[in-house]
Order: sequence, then C-alpha cells, then structure tokens
Amino acid sequence: MSQAMNPTRSTTTAWASLTAHFEAIKDRTLRELFDTDPERAARYSLEGTGLFVDFSKNRITDETLQLLQRLAKESGLRSKIDAMFSGEKINITENRAVLHVALRAPKGEAIIVDGVDVVPEVHAVLDKMSGFADRVRSGDWKGFTGKPIKTVVNVGIGGSDLGPVMAYEALRHYSQRSLAFRFVSNVDGTDIAEATYDLDPETTLFLVASKTFTTLETMTNAHSARTWLLESANGLKNEKAVANHFVAISTNEKEVAKFGIDTENMFGFWDWVGGRYSMDSAIGLSTMLAIGPEKFRQMLAGFHAMDDHFRTAPFEENLPVIMALLSIWYNDFFGAQTAAVLPYEQYLKRFPAYLQQLTMESNGKHVQLSGDPVTQNTGAIYWGEPGTNGQHSFYQLIHQGTRLIPCDFIGFSRSLNPIDTHHDILIANVFAQAEALAFGKTAEQVKAEGTADWLVPHRVFEGNRPSNVILAKELTPEILGTLVALYEHIVFVQGVVWQIDSFDQWGVELGKVLANRIVPELQGQDELKHDSSTNALIERYRKTRSESRPG
Ligand code: F6P
Repeated sequence: MSQAMNPTRSTTTAWASLTAHFEAIKDRTLRELFDTDPERAARYSLEGTGLFVDFSKNRITDETLQLLQRLAKESGLRSKIDAMFSGEKINITENRAVLHVALRAPKGEAIIVDGVDVVPEVHAVLDKMSGFADRVRSGDWKGFTGKPIKTVVNVGIGGSDLGPVMAYEALRHYSQRSLAFRFVSNVDGTDIAEATYDLDPETTLFLVASKTFTTLETMTNAHSARTWLLESANGLKNEKAVANHFVAISTNEKEVAKFGIDTENMFGFWDWVGGRYSMDSAIGLSTMLAIGPEKFRQMLAGFHAMDDHFRTAPFEENLPVIMALLSIWYNDFFGAQTAAVLPYEQYLKRFPAYLQQLTMESNGKHVQLSGDPVTQNTGAIYWGEPGTNGQHSFYQLIHQGTRLIPCDFIGFSRSLNPIDTHHDILIANVFAQAEALAFGKTAEQVKAEGTADWLVPHRVFEGNRPSNVILAKELTPEILGTLVALYEHIVFVQGVVWQIDSFDQWGVELGKVLANRIVPELQGQDELKHDSSTNALIERYRKTRSESRPG
C-alpha cells in the first residue's frame, strides 16, 4: 500500500516516532519490563466508572504511552469527541450525526441536531416503552383472545438482534422469569420454525425490530411470523389479532404501517442511531421487557457514566482512549490481525458476537474520510468465547501459536450464582491465563522439572503475549452499559486515528443487491448472465432442489 496519502502518517509526527520506537522496543519482554519496574502494575492500571483495568501486561513503556497519547492528540481526538457529543454530522458518507450518547443522556441535558433538542424525544420514547413494558410484564396487555403474554419473540438482524440477544443473556439473572424470550434473526426458515415450534399464538408477542423496516431477512421472518400467528393449526384466524401480537421498533413509520402494524404500537428512534449502536434505544425493548424499566434505566446510567468519563477524562486516564491506543499499537505496529475478548462470565456468552458487529462493521474500512486508500491496517478481527470454555479449545494457539493475539479478559469479583468454589476457580483462571501469556515458561524452568531434552521445546511457553484484565464487582445492568460504552468509544478512537468513517457500512450492500437479483433466478428458468462459477452453482441448485428426497 502507498504511504503517500495517509493523513495519519503524514500529518502526525507521532506515527513516525512510534515506528522508530517500535523498532527499539519490539524485542523487550514483559518479564524484563516487570523485573525492572516493581510499580508497573500500579502505574499501568486505572479505575473508573465501576471498572478496574489492568493494562500492565502490555508490551509498552512510558515512552510508548506518551507517543500513543501524542498520536491521539495529533489525530484531533479531542475535537472529534466534542464533535460527536455536540451532534455534528460526523458520519459524512451518510450525512448523519452520530448520537448514541444522546440515548442515555439524562433528562435536562440538551443535545441539538438540526436545531432540535433530541433529549426530550429520547425520554418520550423511553416513557412509552416503560408504559408498554409494565403492561406486558404485569399481564395487563392481553393477546387477542384475552390471555396474557408468555413469550416475547424479537425478530431482527444485525444491530436489531445482536444487542438485544446479548443484553437479554447478560441480564437474564434480573429478568422476569414468567416471560420467555426468543430471538429470530436468520432468514433460514429453520430459525423462525424452531423459535415458534412449541409456542402458543394466543400468548406470543412479536417485536419486529428494524431500523429501516426494509431488511430482507427481518421482513421475511416478520411475514412468516404473521402467517404463523394467523394461519397455523392453532392460529388466531383473524387479521385484527396482529394489533395485539405485533409491535414494531423502527425509524420508518410508513413501512411499519404498510406491514399492518398500528403505528400506535410502534417505538421510534432516529437516523442518528446506528444499528450497531442501538441496543439502548427502542431496539432494546426486549431488554426492558425482560428486566423492567427501572433496571433498563440503570443500564442507561452505566452507559452515561462511561460517556462522561470518555468526554471529560484526560487522555492519560481515559479508559477507552488507552485501550484503543493499545489496540492500534498491536494492530499497526506489531501487525496483529485479531483481538480476542474473553469474558469469564457465562452471562456474557454473546458479548464477543455482539462486539464483532460493533467493531468490524464500524472499522472494517479501506478508505479514509477523504476517500483516499488507508495506508495502515484498520479494524482487527474481533472474536472470543466465554472462559473457561475457550481454554479447552483455542487457547493453545494463543499461548504457543505463531500469531500475536492481544486479549481482553473480563471478570467479576462476585458471582450472581455463588455455588461452592465455582467462582474462585473461574477467576483463578483469568489471572492464571493472563500470567501465563505474559511470562510463559522458559526452557530452564521446563528442564528443571526433569523434562527430557527432546520434549523441552514443545513445553516451552515463550510468553510476552499481551493482555488487559478488566475487573468489575458484579455484573449489573449498570456495569453492562458501562462495558458496552467502553467498547463503543474504543471503536470511535480507533476510527479517529485511522481517519475513517466508523459509522457507515457500505460494504454490506453489494451482497444484498446480488442476492435480490439471484432469488428470482433460483425460482425461474431464465438464462443466467453471471460468471461461469455462479451460473453453474445456480443451475445445480435449480436441478437438485426439485429432485425428490431419498427414502
Ligand atoms: O448489515 C447491515 C445492517 O444495515 C446493519 O448495520 C444493521 O444493524 C442491520 O443491517 C439491520 O438493519 P435494520 O435494523 O434496518 O433491519
């Protein structure tokens, strides 16, 4: 890639300094860095907004941190933060403000978009959601035949699914157990078929969640849900039942009405909320139904606490800024291609999947804001699984593979389900993994255990593998909000340094357009005009789909 046009490299002196600094320190080990600085853990950890972050096991020195801070400053981070919080249209390719922070702004704060203070609108929707949630949770909201709702099915995809399902799983401990929740996202008919298989239409409520209300998968599933409700064996056989069993969450009133949902039963949001930043908007209605309005507001307070921290803390003490700069250090200087997020909390089992959309749809970009190609790598591949399961699957590669994989470990001091010694065992594994990754086990140590010479190399752990450890007291709605906002702002800082638009997603369009073109081709016999591979695949599908099933 050409180096010429990159503002990050050409307009920041920090980038060149970091490149030279990297050459100077790339071989220093964490063992050595810890041995020569007994205060390292204390100096390289921060506490704020209910989170404690130990970032001492990173391959950095004071100079690294100073240079990374300089990079942030030279990239204009401060003014970009101010621009986001003040409602400027920083999503330039869609000419939109980026204001998920307004979704958790307390009453009384003012955030102006196009001359309008959006905070009162946000609270009006929250109030409407709360009234609805109270009615459903208390049994006051009745199905068409007069029965209370027992199961809520959220139909959505991407940001209209991953946030809701992650938050439901994360906060299940706080949920009203008499209500069951299911999530349908995939256009694969199996998803809706299995989700509705054992449900009773009389007691089922569908939330159709779609910012645009045009997404093919969601609309296809929503239509099938309606058919199931009205026409299945025990279906309600009356169009009017839709009003009791469907609500919509969308920015598109026209399409909601076209679908047949009474817009009275629609919960709105705004074009300045990106899909992957929407779990705390009306898209979070399933979360509110599960945990109730009060706890939902606690979650918003957690988001807001991190927003405030991000907006006001000096960069040296700013959790999202520091974590983002560290991720850039590995991504662009060490050449790390992926980043693992490893929650040691079963309730956070969907957190890595949620983060994948947040990080990769935001920062998987190949051009800068100027339209020029980027000249350094942008978004890393984020992935992960809850611990300790991952340890028995992919950790081998993190410990002894040839790739550098920076890890974020997330743990809690208290379990929501304290049973015997489970939690101590769980958390011991967080600390052990971070320690093993950082310091490894030398050949001398392995030999001293009496290992045969030929086996020694196999049992050596090089160490020097970086990680952050994020600790909080307990997984509460508030802490979940704080954690999500932490990563939202990490993504923001990365985007600012890389000078990309973190808030559009043009890269998902082409596949959608081609699929829409191919659907009728699968169903018809028209002459195909694709490449030879696509033509042959379509022809094979046409032929085999009509062959009878064996047996
Ligand atoms: O995958 C593209 C995308 O636009 C995501 O950004 C979004 O979260 C998802 O589709 C769903 O969109 P909608 O909420 O409009 O149905």
